[in-house]
Amino acid sequence: MCGIVGYIGKRSACDILINGLKRLEYRGYDSAGIALNCNASLTVTKRSGKVAMLETALLQDVDQQVVENSVAGIAHTRWATHGLPTVENAHPHLDNSSRIALVHNGIIENYAALRTQLQKKGSVFVSETDTEVLAHLIGSFYSGDLAVAVSEALKMVEGTYGVAVIAVDAPDEMIVARRGSPLVIGMGSGETIIASDVSAIVAHTQQVIYLQDGDVARITATGADVFTLDQCLVDRDISEIEWEIDAAEKGGFDHFMLKEIFEQPEALRNSIRGRLDKDQGFAILAGLDLTPRELASIKRVVIVACGTSMHAGMVSKYLFEGLADLPTSVEQAAEFRYCNPLVGADDLVVAVSQSGETADTLAAVRESILKGALVAGLCNVVGSTIARETGRGIYLHAGPEIGVASTKAFTAQVTVLLMMALKFGRRRRLSREAGVQICREIESIPEMVARVVEQSDAIADIAAEFADVEHAFFIGRGILYPAALEGALKLKEISYIHAEGYQAAELKHGPIALLEPATPVVALLNDIPGREKTLGNVAECRARKAPVLGVVTEGDFETAASVDRVISVPRCSAYIAPIISVVALQLLAYHIARIRGCEIDQPRNLAKSVTVE
Ligand code: G6P
Repeated sequence: MCGIVGYIGKRSACDILINGLKRLEYRGYDSAGIALNCNASLTVTKRSGKVAMLETALLQDVDQQVVENSVAGIAHTRWATHGLPTVENAHPHLDNSSRIALVHNGIIENYAALRTQLQKKGSVFVSETDTEVLAHLIGSFYSGDLAVAVSEALKMVEGTYGVAVIAVDAPDEMIVARRGSPLVIGMGSGETIIASDVSAIVAHTQQVIYLQDGDVARITATGADVFTLDQCLVDRDISEIEWEIDAAEKGGFDHFMLKEIFEQPEALRNSIRGRLDKDQGFAILAGLDLTPRELASIKRVVIVACGTSMHAGMVSKYLFEGLADLPTSVEQAAEFRYCNPLVGADDLVVAVSQSGETADTLAAVRESILKGALVAGLCNVVGSTIARETGRGIYLHAGPEIGVASTKAFTAQVTVLLMMALKFGRRRRLSREAGVQICREIESIPEMVARVVEQSDAIADIAAEFADVEHAFFIGRGILYPAALEGALKLKEISYIHAEGYQAAELKHGPIALLEPATPVVALLNDIPGREKTLGNVAECRARKAPVLGVVTEGDFETAASVDRVISVPRCSAYIAPIISVVALQLLAYHIARIRGCEIDQPRNLAKSVTVE
């Protein structure tokens, strides 16, 4: 959460920082600010609201000579943790002398104690934030060497941070550091751009250094020196960003979310490419790096994840158990990390995370490694912390996902988990023939998803009928139960309609009391085992006069006749049905939110990457 960008080089820092913030806005968007280092003074401008407000302020309220001529600066877009999203609480924050400016992503847990200590020494605070305390702490250590001051201050900090710091007295450098919050350094030609993720960097350079926890770096226009908090130099490789800037642009769509829904066939092709041995009916997932012996020794799969990624994990329980006879449990990562989990050498813990940065999932990874489990990451963002710390895993290759509500990452996660289940199944009990058949089904996923996406306009017409409701239920059973949870999550995230996903039979155990004509039920009725039973639950809903929208297999007229409205999806096997159905539900949520005039790509209170507990 929170986006950080910093620049030092020969061009106008202001333009680069504002454009960077716009690309990072999905990480937090309740206030924004910028500090420019120009002519031996720091000019700090902050606004509550979106980056556009800050941009206007820079045009109207700031000396244009500063705006145009600053060649170094830092900027921030905020997702509030401590204090309301006011101008005072927005970053950057200054030290007590107003000569050092800092932007921060993360939480300083011992900020209250540090604040009291600093106040005793004369610090006067103007905000309620933990970040301002860190700025003052750095100031208290500063005597000419900014890197030393930052390092000494960070040694006193409990909590998480990604920070960028500049000082009036050191116009040619910027200090950055990370612990628990991502920070990437973009190595341009005669300029260096730092950011909390590569989307703010890729327009300028493809060459990046991913900082690791505990790293501090001195950034200049010609490069970066990375060292520890104790000033020991460390070597960090330069990596190449795999995608181009177009991938992070809307490309003619009204919203990133719609673009990412439409991108799914291509994203899934990229996820699948080169990973199927269609002759042997096997999946090649080299990054898992498991020897046949290790594979055979796994007794249980434990999925740790949050949000949409957890729903993908819930689908995989049916895949691992159904195809590979592997008992699978799915754990909400925040629960897992604190419940003293029973995992060990016989368990494969799979951390599913689009961003690879979710704080609770990362903590679950660390706990599992400590307990001796095999741990694999399933991430989309290359070089992310979970991908690096697990050391083994599979990238989704779905391309950057910018819309806060996750779409293509979900379908890619389920597809990759299906390939994993195929791989494990073939090592355990699946015949070659069965494996070959599943390979064929996996190959057909992009085409089937394309057929659902083509129905966007028809789904928009149905959405218009449901756009005024205030409550909705989503029901499914078996492998479609997590799909119902995901459909409800998409709707509530972006349309603010109160939506709940339930196992279809569970509806009777309470929620059915809430059904009435203004509360629709969306029922997942794909023609796979369990449909008949869900139809029984649909009848119970209709008997309470709740309108039912069914997601129904094409040509299944009998089921279509049992509901009030229908979204048709292609016929497919049970393993693929959640992917197909969820794409239809993504479109339903999107169109309802659009009709309601909601801020689809930046829903209120949410952030794409949750790097705090
Ligand atoms: C946030 C996002 C969700 C996402 C969840 C887990 O809540 O808004 O879309 O599913 O975090 O994120 P991860 O990056 O770990 O998949």
